Amino acid sequence: MKTRTSRTAWLLPLTSLLVLASVSAYIASAEEHEGKKKHGSSSLKLPPAATRTISYTNDVKPIFSDMCFGCHADGQHKGGYRMDTPAQILSIVKKNNSAGSKLIRMTARVGGESDEYMPPKEKLTAEQVGVLRAWVDQGAKFDEKPAK
Ligand code: HEC
Repeated sequence: MKTRTSRTAWLLPLTSLLVLASVSAYIASAEEHEGKKKHGSSSLKLPPAATRTISYTNDVKPIFSDMCFGCHADGQHKGGYRMDTPAQILSIVKKNNSAGSKLIRMTARVGGESDEYMPPKEKLTAEQVGVLRAWVDQGAKFDEKPAK
């Protein structure tokens, strides 16, 4: 009896050490995953910004016209939001900061609440989001008025 205990006694500390090691490894990887999720929501998953110079009239307005104005201009103001003027459009834009702009998060369908993704059903292509990003990053300038 005595010899048996002493022969297996080393197993207990060893097993608990192994369990401890794997538990802390698990926690570390879960924390890393969580961190990635948080950062990813703003930058990792956004399509890249277009690299050319973007014009509101020629590049951005056609996208808004196809994808937004039907519900947010010309008398339509779904959700109380309108896009008839530059000021209204800029209310969801942080100039020079596309990753921080609600317009980009909504249209790229990244982060936040999924019921804020716009348009509700149709989706912008990665290229279209890239054009909007570049426009915001280039200062969100309007080269004509009115906006819509
Ligand atoms: C088919 C109709 C439709 C289209 C197209 C559409 N929206 Fe919306 N939008 C809605 C509806 C409906 C709501 C209200 C949603 C709610 O309150 O849950 C809304 C709400 C909003 C809001 C206010 C809510 C908030 O979270 O700030 C903004 C901003 C917005 N849309 C931006 C856009 C943009 C930008 C586009 C184009 C890229 C767009 N929408 C295209 C229907 C539409």
